[in-house]
Amino acid sequence: GRVVLVGGEPGVGKSRLAAELARAAHGDGARVLYGRCDERSLIPYQPFVEALDHHVAHAPLDELRSQTAHGGEKLARLVPALGERLPGLPDTAPGDPQIDRYLAFESVARLLSGLSRRSALLLVIDDLHLADRPTLLLLRHLLRSSKRSSLLVLGTYRESAVGASHQLSETTVELHREGLLERIRLDGLEERELAGLIAAWGGADAPPGLTRAIHDQTEGNLFFVGEFLRHLTDTGALSREHGRLTLTRPLDVVGVPESVKEAIGWHLSRLDDHVLDMLRLASVLGRRFSLDVLAALADSEGGELERAIETAAAEGVVEEEPGAIGQYAFAHALIRDTLYSAIGSPRRARLHRRVGEIIEQLPTADPGTRLAELAYHFSRAAPIGAAEQAVAHCRRAGDHAMTLFAYEEAAQHYRRALQALELVEIGDEDERRELLLGLGEAQDRRTQSSELGSTATIR
Ligand SMILES: Nc1ncnc2c1ncn2[C@@H]1O[C@H](COP(=O)(O)OP(=O)(O)OP(=O)(O)O)[C@@H](O)[C@H]1O
Ligand SMILES: [Mg+2]
Repeated sequence: GRVVLVGGEPGVGKSRLAAELARAAHGDGARVLYGRCDERSLIPYQPFVEALDHHVAHAPLDELRSQTAHGGEKLARLVPALGERLPGLPDTAPGDPQIDRYLAFESVARLLSGLSRRSALLLVIDDLHLADRPTLLLLRHLLRSSKRSSLLVLGTYRESAVGASHQLSETTVELHREGLLERIRLDGLEERELAGLIAAWGGADAPPGLTRAIHDQTEGNLFFVGEFLRHLTDTGALSREHGRLTLTRPLDVVGVPESVKEAIGWHLSRLDDHVLDMLRLASVLGRRFSLDVLAALADSEGGELERAIETAAAEGVVEEEPGAIGQYAFAHALIRDTLYSAIGSPRRARLHRRVGEIIEQLPTADPGTRLAELAYHFSRAAPIGAAEQAVAHCRRAGDHAMTLFAYEEAAQHYRRALQALELVEIGDEDERRELLLGLGEAQDRRTQSSELGSTATIR
């Protein structure tokens, strides 16, 4: 297997490029799996779990049985959907933590290389700069152990989010040295390309000067270009009638957004206050959010909320997630960031606390995700009196991550629990000791297992 990484600035078109390549590969008969990393890193190995979930849910049973004949029970820990489709997989007692993790990784590698023997296999992983360390370790293991298979991983990442000491850089440097990785840098469109894009979008050539003006401002960043064009048409400055594009007012009269942030601000300012309120609340839930949690948060009539979200969807601010009823995502991470950063920090903390309380009441299918969500929201609310809940939930999330061999994630959860414990008025010394022990154990396993199966890691 090999990995091709597409890097570039936010909004330059990395995800879209990956999606188009995936579509083309699928059209050519390749099997395509897709997963993305989340800013909250809800579950360890999230992109793999997402990708494999889909496969596990749709593959014929006997095929699945033979693909997971070895190590199926380890795989089922990472991908709970497997246990649901193949009930009765033995629940093995934990053995040596290093070997357990190795076996779990092997079970993923075996499944994927099995798939890649039948047809070309493309695994798309979006937003790798947000990947947790267990995900990167699994990726590395996968590529090393399937050197001869035809698996191709296509990953995207935001260059600006990845410094030299970022964990993704460590992984990519190693993989590059081993000849398993190739990098592509995606830049904004050139002026000529932008002219072509505008013509394709408007069905006619751009009026003189427009392409240059947009290019100067956006440097060909596609997200920015899209917001800019929307602004021009929304304000009526650019008309698309009679098969031609015409500027009805000079650009300096219309005003030109100076940054992506400003463009998003203009876009959002066209929505009415109620819709904006709902969107701000949704931004607290994350890039992706579910309507029922949002409804409870807004404490409003479902209908009204639904209308607000429908309006936002019609305006291209949010999108319904394919294949999941009542699940939405902001059309772009930058939109979510803008909304989220407009909320003052005391209110933010209060909202996170509310969300935590709501999720506590809701049954969800996957206990792992729920634990991590609770840990996330309560730790954001720890400074305003939710420290005890934060400690409890971070600790549980840590324990859960340990059972998934995600030792680095577990260590982080324990560390967050310890931080929150500092904020508890009368901190419990026993609790602190236990958390420190947990952290020690997670770190211990981490060091041991990164030595195992790795040829060139010196830390
Ligand atoms: N070649 C293209 N033609 C038309 N529109 C495009 C093209 N590439 C990207 N876009 C649009 O530009 C916007 C931003 O693209 P995309 O989401 O792929 O950016 P990104 O690089 O993944 O950003 P981020 O780093 O924030 O994830 C999207 O609305 C996308 O549909
Ligand atoms: Mg993207």
